[in-house]
Amino acid sequence: MSKSENRLRLGVNIDHVATVRNARGGVTPDPVRAALLAQSAGADGITAHLREDRRHIRDADIERLMAALSIPLNFEMAATEEMHAIALRHAPHAVCIVPEKREERTTEGGLEVVKDAKRLTAFIAPLRDAGCRVSLFVAADAAQIDAAAEVGAEVVELHTGAYCDFHEAGQIGERDAELERLRAMSTHAHGLGLEVHAGHGLTFDSVPPIAAFPEVRELNIGHFLMGEAIFTGLPAAIAQMRSVMDTARR
Ligand code: PXP
Repeated sequence: MSKSENRLRLGVNIDHVATVRNARGGVTPDPVRAALLAQSAGADGITAHLREDRRHIRDADIERLMAALSIPLNFEMAATEEMHAIALRHAPHAVCIVPEKREERTTEGGLEVVKDAKRLTAFIAPLRDAGCRVSLFVAADAAQIDAAAEVGAEVVELHTGAYCDFHEAGQIGERDAELERLRAMSTHAHGLGLEVHAGHGLTFDSVPPIAAFPEVRELNIGHFLMGEAIFTGLPAAIAQMRSVMDTARR
């Protein structure tokens, strides 16, 4: 593998800059300003999740991100007709389809690809025709990954939330078992010709083993980086994450 093929991309999720903005209903802090700062600090892409309830990112943020960014936008969304129309209107570089429940605090599980295969096939085709790279956010589960390849996704993003929760709780046995599932499933997905991404809950402490999986090409990280930015600033937080990822990759 060449050096550039081995380089792991870092996608910075800016949703929680919008969470803080919306807490006061005003215009600051501006998530687009954070995205531009992340871009100049070395992010390889920006991720933003337009939720049905618009609790953080709003429609106007997506419009402004599309106009302002020179790095790719990964538009995260649920598989609804409303989001389909918005994605087709903007045709971002990538669309990541995630499950969404109104009452959840964050994206809790992976997408149900097996059960929803027929609908997802019809949902994905126009997005690909519009030039978007379609990714499905899935648990480390072979059946869901097989189905992702069948419905026409080009990418799977493996949900690292369970691994990170076990890591934080000090449940080492469970953490290592989930890590092994993630490792096996990144190999499995790569073997099917899917590009493998990973994300959710990653921190400086939990990222190294995931960054070391050779098949993983991109990590998407948000909440922890925005929390760190309060203490060290966003460029320093991104630089440290980049360095931890690169060290793990070597
Ligand atoms: N990837 C996906 C598909 C997500 O839904 C999220 C959370 O919005 C992330 C990555 C980033 O997770 P976190 O904010 O916990 O780093």
